[in-house]
Formats: sequence, C-alpha cells, structure tokens
Amino acid sequence: MTIPVIDFSKLNGEERAKTMAEIANGCEEWGFFQLVNHGIPKELLERVKKVCSECYKQEREEKFKNSTPVVKLLNEIVEKKSGNKLENEDWEDVFTLVDDMNERTSETPGFKETMAEYRAELKKLGVKVMEVMDENLGLPKGSIKKVFDGEEGSAFFGTKVSHYPPCPNPELVNGLRAHTDAGGVVLLFQDDKVGGLQILKDGEWIDVQPLPNAIVINTGDQIEVLSNGRYKSVWHRVLATPDGNRRSIASFYNPSLKATISPAPQLVENLKKEMNQAYPKFVFGDYMSVYTEQKFLPKEPRFQVVRAM
Ligand SMILES: [Fe+2]
Repeated sequence: MTIPVIDFSKLNGEERAKTMAEIANGCEEWGFFQLVNHGIPKELLERVKKVCSECYKQEREEKFKNSTPVVKLLNEIVEKKSGNKLENEDWEDVFTLVDDMNERTSETPGFKETMAEYRAELKKLGVKVMEVMDENLGLPKGSIKKVFDGEEGSAFFGTKVSHYPPCPNPELVNGLRAHTDAGGVVLLFQDDKVGGLQILKDGEWIDVQPLPNAIVINTGDQIEVLSNGRYKSVWHRVLATPDGNRRSIASFYNPSLKATISPAPQLVENLKKEMNQAYPKFVFGDYMSVYTEQKFLPKEPRFQVVRAM
C-alpha cells in the first residue's frame, strides 16, 4: 500500500477532472499525497537540498551530537539497560524559518537566499492546493485562504528544516513521535533516499515512500474543522534509523493566530442536524496554546478544550 502520487501539471489540461478527483481522494481517504510536476524548478530543489545539508554539517551536527538532551538521555537509558523506550523526546535536529528575514537562521553561503526563494514558491503552491480543496469541497475559490488570513490578512507560513541523524538505538527512541499537524496545509520536501515517515492508515503504519523532488501534501487539524470532517488530519511519525541522515523540510500554511476557525457554513447545512455540532468554532491562537501542551495526544480532546474556551 502506497500513498497516492498525483501529477499536478495535469490540472491544466484534458485530465483536469480526473486530477481533481485524485486530489479529492487523497484528501478524503489518505490525508497525505505526493505531488509530482508541481512546477517548483528542479534546479531550485537541488539547491535547497545542498544548502540544508551543508548547514547541518557545518552548523548543527556537532551541536546535535554533543549538547542535545536527547543524545544524553538515550545514552542513560542504554547504560541502565532498562529496555524502556525514551517516550518524551525526538531524535531530531530542527529549526524554523519564518517570513521575518532578520530572524537568525544560518550562515551557510546561499542558505538565506535559496530558502527565501524556495519558500516563496512553496507558498504559491500552497495557495494553489488550497484552491483545489475549495473547489473539491464546493466552496468559492479562495475560501480556505480567506479564513486563514483572518481579519488582518496574514496567514502564517513557516518552514521547519529538520534532520534525523543516524541513531545507534532506533528501537529506543522515535525520530518524531506520532501526532497530527495543528495547522492547515503542510508541504513537505522529504529526503530522496532516507525514508522513515509513516502515516497511520486503517490501523496500520505505512511508509511515505521517498520520491525524489516530489512534494508531499498533508492536511492539519484546521482543514479537518473547516471541511467539517471530510478531510481528516492523519496521524504520522518518523522512525529513527541506524544509518542515513534523513533531511526533511516541512512548510506550513497555517491560519493567522487571530483567525476564527469553524466548519464552513456551506458544508454544515448539507449535513444532518446532529452532525452540525461535530466541530467547534474557536480562535486559532487558542487552539495553538492547547496544541503546544498536547501535540502528541489525540486531537479530539483538543477540540473539546477549545470548544469550552
Ligand atoms: Fe507533522
């Protein structure tokens, strides 16, 4: 079983209807799908891989090995030979890029410029993907983006640059613990070769197969609410691996913290009355405060907490 691979360029040709249906299926049945021929230049993607790997080597690898708590904690567990798994840590090196370019990120030559260029392209792709979702859900074009922008017109777009270095005891720690994503649409540029990302599908963990230069799309909790449950956010995790250093660059198209999120009225009216109350109405910033505390727990209690706020 593999997650759907969809040719995004076919959206503009004779196979448009078929491609729209494939994306609808990806959203409804999987929560994850891979886009190929998405329009991001290959040359740019190659540069992104290069600067991110160089940044890791030059600025982060030593720090990860020598001063990251997870390395120390894993060593302690191994020495104790308790057999217990390290439950509250991830074997991950990560930092986040946001629109504020003054933010200190990396001194690696070409990093800032390349990532700014990449993020601008990915942001445009994110908008296109959301417009496809609008259409598939029967909403006016731009609806999801408008909700995410909120009153002030400022949806959040962030990019997490992660590495999952080789782990000596992958059975004792996760690369990234299982969770659903809090926000809207996630656009992931994962490693060409080193896998490890898995999604939970019908009770079974299945691999998101590495596919060079594809962009993996997945939907977060806010798309689930907006779509009134038609597009479910899906549990996923990253396994630690003994060899290979997995590179993973995930960009998040999320609501503004001030945006109000609720099921789209058009989708509620069409459903039975008892279903109408399935998802709450809340301010995204409130959801994020809950999420920060409960990221690795089921999402339903988060919805309950914000409903009561
Ligand atoms: Fe995630």
